[in-house]
Amino acid sequence: MIKIICVCGARPNFMKIAPIMRAFNESGQFETLLVHTGQHYDKKMSHLFFDELNIPKPDINLEVGSGSHAVQTAEIMKHFEPVVLDFQPDYCLVVGDVNSTIACGMVAVKLGAKLIHVEAGLRSFDKAMPEEINRVLTDRISDLLFITEQSGIDNLKNEGVADEKVHLVGNVMIDTLLANKEKAEQSNILESMGLTAKQYAVITLHRPSNVDDLAGLEKIIAAFEVIQEELKLVFPIHPRTRNNIDGTELGARVKAMENLILLEPVGYLEFLKLTANAALVMTDSGGIQEETTILGVPCMTLRPNTERPVTITEGTNQLVKLTTEDILSVYDELKTMNFSVSGKIPKFWDGKAAERIAKTIVAAQDKF
Ligand code: UD1
Ligand code: UDP
Repeated sequence: MIKIICVCGARPNFMKIAPIMRAFNESGQFETLLVHTGQHYDKKMSHLFFDELNIPKPDINLEVGSGSHAVQTAEIMKHFEPVVLDFQPDYCLVVGDVNSTIACGMVAVKLGAKLIHVEAGLRSFDKAMPEEINRVLTDRISDLLFITEQSGIDNLKNEGVADEKVHLVGNVMIDTLLANKEKAEQSNILESMGLTAKQYAVITLHRPSNVDDLAGLEKIIAAFEVIQEELKLVFPIHPRTRNNIDGTELGARVKAMENLILLEPVGYLEFLKLTANAALVMTDSGGIQEETTILGVPCMTLRPNTERPVTITEGTNQLVKLTTEDILSVYDELKTMNFSVSGKIPKFWDGKAAERIAKTIVAAQDKF
């Protein structure tokens, strides 16, 4: 049996770990320990997804909670170290680019476990993004790197990572989307909110570069104020964003918009139903750029860069400059196209990425 610790901690990690746990279980060759760091802890940012996506209950929850980057990373490391010492894994698998990813990766490698990084190689080349630092460092210490798109292969080659460590396997987040699409269609969230398919847009915002600076955020909100005059907006608000604007004038402006429906974060199936039927998505999320590509829904990414360029070159995504005018001008352009965009499905985004990961790890046993 291959002894492996699988790590998750923040919302996007849960969609990624779900098919991996399933593939390991089905393979019958893995002894797994699922560790939740507790980076995200609200029911709607964490527990909900375990039920919806049939993820096994974590064997251990480190319950670290929120903190500054240094505090959160250090707390995860301190609490994760005894777990690794006790379980003595052959491998530790981490996903994505959050603080839990690098914190657990660093601990595991120093204790002699081989590190597996799922969703490796993505680069925004923007060091102001905390995730970019997490990505670069995690890849540097990983022994097996699983890649979602060709740009990841190219980036790792440029950084001198040995070819034999790198495997293009597809996208585990898309495994989850394809496995749940039919189930999500059964959600009655549109009816319960009085929405009609293709007659609303979905918004998510949580990148510190957008929501920690309220002067910058004001430019985005000002564009929403104009757009909602003709298209309903549905905004499940991330706790970082909610905490930043609660009690401020900007928060009051968001609440005052007649055609903007402000929600707590919603479950995965409800969110998938909302995005699949939206005319448009406006977001700064990483994962949602990929999901809209598969769903064929136009995505305006409110960021100066993306680490997921295939969603632009092949998918339905485009970057939008962070001024009110630019947001409105791209919106107008999409409106003249009746919000109809075409794209193709990136290689291996076919629902089988986790299966490929399990097979590659089993085959790699001989090499280590
Ligand atoms: C984190 C990730 C980011 C990812 C995002 C997904 C890092 C550096 N950032 O950002 O890459 O895109 O998750 O959603 O790892 N909070 C709650 N309840 C929760 C969780 C957080 O209220 O369950 C609030 C706290 O005030 C906290 C803030 O949100 O301080 C930010 O949480 P944190 O995990 O530090 O960063 P995110 O912005 O969520
Ligand atoms: N998501 C969700 N409910 C919401 C908003 C997003 O289930 O209210 C899902 C979304 O479908 C995607 C994931 O959360 O699968 C993306 O997470 P997030 O945007 O928080 O992180 P990022 O991808 O930017 O790291």
